[in-house]
Amino acid sequence: MADLDGILENKDKDYGIGIPVANQHFILKGSDNLDWGMKDRLARIFNVKSGRTVMLAFDHGYIMGPTSGLERLDLGIVPLIEYADSLMCTRGSLRSVVPPTSGKAICLRSSAGSSLLTDLNNECIIDPVDAVRVNASAMAVMVAIGNQNFEAKTVENLARAVDNGYKYGVPVMGVTAVGREMARDARYFSTASRICAENGANIVKTYYCEGFAKVVNSCPVPIVIAGGKKLPEKEALELCYNAINEGAAGVDMGRNVFQSEAPAAMIQAVRGVVHDNLTPDQAYEMFRDLAKK
Ligand code: 5RP
Repeated sequence: MADLDGILENKDKDYGIGIPVANQHFILKGSDNLDWGMKDRLARIFNVKSGRTVMLAFDHGYIMGPTSGLERLDLGIVPLIEYADSLMCTRGSLRSVVPPTSGKAICLRSSAGSSLLTDLNNECIIDPVDAVRVNASAMAVMVAIGNQNFEAKTVENLARAVDNGYKYGVPVMGVTAVGREMARDARYFSTASRICAENGANIVKTYYCEGFAKVVNSCPVPIVIAGGKKLPEKEALELCYNAINEGAAGVDMGRNVFQSEAPAAMIQAVRGVVHDNLTPDQAYEMFRDLAKK
């Protein structure tokens, strides 16, 4: 009883209004009214102090096959896992190479259906029970806004995934695809991101672009940015910095990490920008120092 009294007496000092410290800091756009399981899973993806995430994306093989840097997932990805907050991957790579003891939030690629060799956007979604089985913290579903053939199908995929997500308490990340015919501008990305959020996505993955703040401001849930094609390291760190400064809640980055000349150094430098507000110069210096080791 003495211990309990001590805790109660000190509750204002230690825990503010009695809410665990971590929760006080966990302010994630659009998540206030979600159920406990959804919040718990989001809090695994997003660092509860910074409210941001470094998501390592290595799901590329599901459409591209053995992409450069991902030929050997055990050598190319496993050593990077410790530096990520969450992992965006397919259930195939998850079960075959990711140690279940890694303790990382899994954002499970949950749509599939076609490859780079045909029409990329013709997808279906996986059984959500399998996402629960692997303890996924989110399900990622691609949406092809503006695609003449598959827009409706991919929005329906997202809607079904959201239904499933609420049934099982698993958040959904809408992944905005970019067709060859679509402009990569703020108008397109804000439209695509907003459509994902309006259809129930709890996180949106999109791309950085000029006028990115407009994309963030018109989206009621957190946005993470993909890195896109490999850039020189300094430019990739500038991209992260600009995105974070303009309101991104993190990165979902693949090629600019695993195709880097020093992937472990690169992901740590990205962490510096996302969680510690390093400038691109500071982060690049960190990258170069770590790369030498
Ligand atoms: C592939 C994806 C990737 O996960 C996404 O594009 C992020 O990777 P990158 O930073 O290499 O663009 O959705 O289908």
